[in-house]
Amino acid sequence: MPEVITFGSATWDVFLKMPQDQVIKSKDFPSGSAVAFNLGSKIDLEDMYFSFGGGGVNTAFTFMNQGIDVAYCGSVGNDIPGKEIINLLKESGINTDFVQRVDKPTNNSVILNTSESERTVLAYRGASELLNMEDVYWSDMNEPSWFYIAPLSGTLSKSTEEMVSFAKKNKIKVAINLGNSQIAMGREKLEQILKKVDVLLLNLEEASLLTHIPENDEIGIMSELNKIHSGINVITKGAEGVLVSDKDVLYNAFSCRVKVVDKTGAGDAFGAGFISGLIKSNYDIEWGIRRGIANATSCIKVPGAINGLLKEDDSFEDRIKVEKGKIV
Ligand SMILES: Nc1ncnc2c1ncn2[C@@H]1O[C@H](COP(=O)(O)OP(=O)(O)OP(=O)(O)O)[C@@H](O)[C@H]1O
Ligand SMILES: [Mg+2]
Repeated sequence: MPEVITFGSATWDVFLKMPQDQVIKSKDFPSGSAVAFNLGSKIDLEDMYFSFGGGGVNTAFTFMNQGIDVAYCGSVGNDIPGKEIINLLKESGINTDFVQRVDKPTNNSVILNTSESERTVLAYRGASELLNMEDVYWSDMNEPSWFYIAPLSGTLSKSTEEMVSFAKKNKIKVAINLGNSQIAMGREKLEQILKKVDVLLLNLEEASLLTHIPENDEIGIMSELNKIHSGINVITKGAEGVLVSDKDVLYNAFSCRVKVVDKTGAGDAFGAGFISGLIKSNYDIEWGIRRGIANATSCIKVPGAINGLLKEDDSFEDRIKVEKGKIV
């Protein structure tokens, strides 16, 4: 039986490398720049490639690469990408017993990469939303030690509670990386769900959204997060680093300086790397942070969300410093 089951989307990602002159700077956009096309033009791309991704698939690959038995539970379409995703998972040694095929196209993302480090994603949320929880053979599942729940969007977000309740009943630990649809459920509802969760992972923007505290007050956000969820709380801050709290102990680590080729999957790589580190070190949080950062750094150095993930024996954690203090 798998030691970890991952939940979340499976997508067919198409990466397009845009010519730089498609980027315009303008204060009219929140980020200060935009990708723009002349209406009716045909634009030559510098490069393109396909890859599989989606939170559930990305995180399953990290666990598999780390030598942890893993199954993916999610749904794909009755189409060629759906078939190919299942083949790839199987060939890679990821258990597919809980994968459903549904009558809607497989999720698809078109990722516009410019020479800036940010990318723009056009997302079609298809089959992944249609995972039918009644068709999941829960009875076959009561052996794993962990559920890793990647962001569940659209209607699938409603299944969050069922997943964590099943886990709690069966003494399965839960790590959850909430997405925007889940954060939109509101604090009261989430507090109920998070009582059954061991590790909560958010990026700074999401943590700010959930706590209603501005992003520049990281410690304030973490203190508030500890009121909402009493287990381990993780806030990733992109190029800046990571904050982790476990009760009143606060860990702070910096990101590695690296040339970002493609940021897709960074959050998944950190989260699943962190949990892999915990599992393999008998719950040493510092080790989890090092594995998470090492895996995310390795992920963003190459194109695609799963191509750069660390292998079990790759290691450069020694270079990652983790500071430990108290929340006052
Ligand atoms: N520009 C960067 N330089 C170095 N490391 C980075 C950079 N961006 C992300 N990382 C690494 O990836 C981790 C997760 O990144 P981030 O906080 O941006 O997550 P996210 O916003 O959830 O990502 P995603 O867009 O994949 O959901 C960071 O903690 C860091 O280790
Ligand atoms: Mg994220």
